[in-house]
Amino acid sequence: MAQNIIAIDGPSGTGKSTTAKMVAGELGYTYLDTGAMYRAITWVLENTKISFDKNNQVLINGENRESEIRDPKISAVVSKYSAIPAIREALTAQQREIASAQPCVLDGRDIGTVVFPNAKHKFFLTADYKTRAARRLLELQNAGKAGGETQESVEKNLRARDEADSTREVAPLVKAQDAIEIDTSHLTIQEQVQKVLQSVGEVARCNNSLNATHKG
Ligand code: DC
Repeated sequence: MAQNIIAIDGPSGTGKSTTAKMVAGELGYTYLDTGAMYRAITWVLENTKISFDKNNQVLINGENRESEIRDPKISAVVSKYSAIPAIREALTAQQREIASAQPCVLDGRDIGTVVFPNAKHKFFLTADYKTRAARRLLELQNAGKAGGETQESVEKNLRARDEADSTREVAPLVKAQDAIEIDTSHLTIQEQVQKVLQSVGEVARCNNSLNATHKG
């Protein structure tokens, strides 16, 4: 059992990343945004011109691309690249390595099913499409990246990505059998964080009392 792993899966716009960050903050765990890793590799594949210097050394721009990977242009194609088995294998290995070195909250699509099927705590967040699209659009507006996006165009992208992420052959988006499902449509961020913390705390308390009973 991976004691110090909290897996938070679910589709985009369900509040996964905000919840995961806040739960990690409360517990002093590291937060690992696995979607950012798929977005980053997508951005690299879409944008990188690989070149060589006169000593045949490979050149790749080593700059911060956080803003670029959140762009709707990347959202539109990330599912295509994250379905490629070789890419998933490489990123899954990196995720296991990072999270094995420290207590971690990971959010993604396949954390509770494939990356850490033995995670101690598993959650699966959902929300209705209207709510998810409104949240995503607000996020894009706040980041100055909304461009010509509307709630309808954002919802269309969410639906297309859900379809691609859920039907791919390798590590599809699916709730782990033992994950706790939380519908966040009508919850505030504080409420959903509390639900996760409460459940993590209850399991911890339950284990402590079991240990105490066992030792006694
Ligand atoms: O969480 P996000 O929207 O930033 O994720 C971007 C895409 O990456 C998502 O549409 C599917 C893919 N992804 C994945 O396949 N597996 C993960 N563990 C995380 C993300």
